[in-house]
Amino acid sequence: MGESDRQLANAVAVVTGAGRGQGRSHAVALAGQGADIIAVDLCADIDAIPYPLATKADLDETVRLVRAAGGRAVPVVADVRDLEQLEAGVRSGVDELGEIDIVIANAGVVAIGDTRTRAEPVFDAIVDTNLKGVWNTLAATVPSIVRKGRGGSVVLISSSQGLTGRGGDGSAAMFAYAASKHGVVGLMRSAANAYAPHKIRVNSVHPGGVATPMILNDFVVRQMTENPNPALSQTLLPDASLVEPQDVTDAVLWLVGPRARYVTGVSIPVDAGHVVM
Ligand SMILES: NC(=O)c1ccc[n+]([C@@H]2O[C@H](COP(=O)([O-])OP(=O)(O)OC[C@H]3O[C@@H](n4cnc5c(N)ncnc54)[C@H](O)[C@@H]3O)[C@@H](O)[C@H]2O)c1
Repeated sequence: MGESDRQLANAVAVVTGAGRGQGRSHAVALAGQGADIIAVDLCADIDAIPYPLATKADLDETVRLVRAAGGRAVPVVADVRDLEQLEAGVRSGVDELGEIDIVIANAGVVAIGDTRTRAEPVFDAIVDTNLKGVWNTLAATVPSIVRKGRGGSVVLISSSQGLTGRGGDGSAAMFAYAASKHGVVGLMRSAANAYAPHKIRVNSVHPGGVATPMILNDFVVRQMTENPNPALSQTLLPDASLVEPQDVTDAVLWLVGPRARYVTGVSIPVDAGHVVM
């Protein structure tokens, strides 16, 4: 593929939660289209979250894959819950790669299978990461897009749980997850209005179940086997209770590219028809 065929040539993209899973898939695909990547991840576990998060080795592997796809990459170990830390990390990436064009606010946590109704630390960890973390990501990145002055595209990764409460089981974890992911739609709509004068488009993507370590881990698999919650994963399309990270990446690639130049303020499910049931 020649430089002119790559629709994101010379773009700089920030991807949070880039250490593995969907974030890694987005980062590598953006690099394949010519973007350089500021790859952010916590690279540590969160006490209240009952499965392991990505490690520094995972983030380094993402960086290796981004470079193999032809992009430059700066790994940033930062917690999206901490605005100052995130800002400092993003600044280090901008110092190396230049001002930002694209943001994929993807970092998130869940605690499917933690059925406790009173679990404040779990509620707080989920809302702080999935909702405040997305607002922090906007705050840490959009000023750079504005400084660059050529517009940009921001994609906020929500969930089918940002558009429906199906599968709600009364647990603190599910309340927090659905509330945080619905909240992301509010952030997206408000940001689409706020940033339109700068030609910055803001949209949200709503995956159904995706085959990543967030749900393919010992805790969730054991809990879902012992306490099945089929309403969570029902889909209209057959044999699609889990989609692949690449399916979500394909929607992200369209949203950040020139073919979506007049698309802003919308929510796109990639869920095999879960939300519409
Ligand atoms: N997997 C699914 O079924 C599914 C479905 C719908 C939506 N989502 C959403 O998609 C996004 C990506 O999830 P995934 O499936 O790739 O899961 P994942 O657990 O594989 O990846 C999430 C990444 O975010 C990082 N992260 C978590 N908390 C962080 C923090 N505070 N600061 C910085 N990084 C942090 C993790 O280390 C990990 O690398 C999340 O927002 C998730 O809620 C996932």
